[in-house]
Amino acid sequence: MAMIAYKCPQHKVVVVDIDKEKIRAWNGSNLPIFEPGLDELVKKTRGKNLFFSTDTESAIREAQIIFVSVNTPTKTFGQGAGRAADLQYWEKTARQILACSRDSKVVVEKSTLPVRTAYAMERILNENSKGVHFEVVSNPEFLAEGTAVRDLEFPDRVLIGSKETEEGFRARKEVVDIYLNWVPRERILESSVWSSELSKLTANAFLAQRISSINSISALCEKTEADVDQVSGAIGMDARIGPKFLKASVGFGGSCFKKDILNLVYICESYGLEKVARYWESVVEINDWQENRFVQNMLVNMFNTVAGKKIALFGFAFKANTGDTRESPAIYVAQGLLAEQAEVAITDPKALKNARKDLKDFKKGVTFEPDPYKAAKGAHAIAVLTEWDIYKGLDYKRILKSMVQPAFIFDGRNILDHNRLYEMGFSVFAIGKAPLRHF
Ligand code: UGA
Repeated sequence: MAMIAYKCPQHKVVVVDIDKEKIRAWNGSNLPIFEPGLDELVKKTRGKNLFFSTDTESAIREAQIIFVSVNTPTKTFGQGAGRAADLQYWEKTARQILACSRDSKVVVEKSTLPVRTAYAMERILNENSKGVHFEVVSNPEFLAEGTAVRDLEFPDRVLIGSKETEEGFRARKEVVDIYLNWVPRERILESSVWSSELSKLTANAFLAQRISSINSISALCEKTEADVDQVSGAIGMDARIGPKFLKASVGFGGSCFKKDILNLVYICESYGLEKVARYWESVVEINDWQENRFVQNMLVNMFNTVAGKKIALFGFAFKANTGDTRESPAIYVAQGLLAEQAEVAITDPKALKNARKDLKDFKKGVTFEPDPYKAAKGAHAIAVLTEWDIYKGLDYKRILKSMVQPAFIFDGRNILDHNRLYEMGFSVFAIGKAPLRHF
């Protein structure tokens, strides 16, 4: 919404939330999320044509277009628990829009939703005797965290789906016209509302599938002395495959991939497409397996015990340039090590606050340390779990001296210079590479 406000000074954008604390933060000097470039964007627009408020009622009444971006987490109860999307917040919002509206509006699905949600929303919104009509348009978001501002300013594509009726086309055009303020026409893709809804889930499923595919090969590389970065370099140069999203890792995290794939799995099951459901589910299974494999690898190589050993985790965010830790592989690795009674020292430039929340159930065995040198001091091993640039430039000679010998590095992101570290004296274990052991 900040980008829309910035690129469309002729429009007034009001962001509303029922969470007073969040809105207070959005109106203050410390924005509630860290995202490169966002502070400047908000500074340029806030108070001019971008406003943050808790007055949902007036905002709904005054708006011509409403983008609904409420959360759609995985359901934790009842039918479809653990897989289906929980649509209660979406439905509540739809009912609130209906209750507060005095004229017709376009309602845009921004949240990631199961295919055919627009149908249910239209039924809720349009079964009214107020004489108002709502068109539901799907406009899924493809930005990635850490690069959100750039992705919004220069999107690969913007997808806008609507009903293919006269009213549907009219509503679609209203949304297209907003993006035309800065997105080239050929990058604005129009489709039916169902294709648009399903494309979002499919895009995330394909992206995650690439990571699980290369991660499955990483295990084979470790057995055969092939190098996974060389393999992904070689296959990525095939224009049909392409180089992106082929970086083997400790696993993918984030609030989207797992949730969206499980949602896709549930939808397939509900249409009786068992084989299709199992196919996509295996993408998540490989990811769980990869995270678990990482912990097992640490355990086996550290002489089958980490009990009482200090282990420094470099990075806790699910990826670099964000403080977000939702579904971060670091959570699973930390839990695995704590279950083995290791002493875990966590360091991260932006995610320590969230890390504390994620591990609040562990009363002992875990410390949080902003300085990576202090985190590594007296440790038996370092595990790199987020690809923050700062970890590449540390003084590893100094770190090695401060650690218990033999010192281990497990590079879960393949960002360090493994041969150099090995020559220095570390035993180095990377993803999809032959181990470099000193014993
Ligand atoms: C993802 C999609 O990339 C966005 O297009 C989508 O809009 C978003 O979900 C969403 O649905 O909201 P995001 O989860 O923010 O974006 O981050 P990604 O860059 O996709 O990274 C996800 C995870 O995969 C991270 O843990 C990352 O480290 C990992 N990853 C990524 C790899 O392990 N290897 C790779 O080659 C790429």
